[in-house]
Amino acid sequence: MSMNIAIDGPSAAGKSTIAKLLAKQLHYAHLDTGAMYRCAAYAAITQGLNLEDEAALQAMLTHLDIHFDEDGAVYINGEDVSKQIRTNDISMAASKVSAYPSVRAALVAKQRCIAANKGYILDGRDIGTVVLPDAEIKIYMVASVEARSQRRYQEYLDKGMDITYEEIYHDIEKRDYQDSHRKASPLKKADDALEIDTSDMSIEQVIQYIMAHIETVQKASVKQA
Ligand code: DC
Repeated sequence: MSMNIAIDGPSAAGKSTIAKLLAKQLHYAHLDTGAMYRCAAYAAITQGLNLEDEAALQAMLTHLDIHFDEDGAVYINGEDVSKQIRTNDISMAASKVSAYPSVRAALVAKQRCIAANKGYILDGRDIGTVVLPDAEIKIYMVASVEARSQRRYQEYLDKGMDITYEEIYHDIEKRDYQDSHRKASPLKKADDALEIDTSDMSIEQVIQYIMAHIETVQKASVKQA
């Protein structure tokens, strides 16, 4: 059975890492929807747009081609921006532009179009609630702010980026607040999502837990058919 899998949760909960590994194991495609909001923010900043100007952002998105290759590299109008969209400033700007209903509408339409043929794992904030409310599997991944800050801090250190643990902690708290208090599609667990707290779990444990859940859901749907 070909399905779609939705993985939602707050910043730095490990959604993309888990989604990538699951996609490999299941031979599914992975769509990192956060990368799309990051592209919108990055393009707006490089074009000198005012991030408070929703109409300008909406107009910009009509001629912004966001494209992923098979290795997960991200392109804006043909230019590889995979590294540029991963800075802390772009994280904060993405959270800001993602609050505008027209920005969301444009990107959600693209996401639904990509996932229409099933066999996709989408990770984001509103996949199980808004983008794909009919997704066969829904996961809601959480972790303490401390665990998430520590993971992100290590990631930035590994990349040689200049940032302190305290800055990351503060920005993750701020993004949590912004992403869950905006009016348009706030971050929230879908009623039928399986919640996993990954604070004290290894990546392998999370994968095993989700794989077991997928198996259970698949068996139940075969029985029903
Ligand atoms: O998952 P991420 O950290 O790369 O996402 C960057 C920002 O984009 C996040 O702070 C909120 C926004 N976002 C969203 O609003 N909806 C999604 N489906 C994915 C991301």
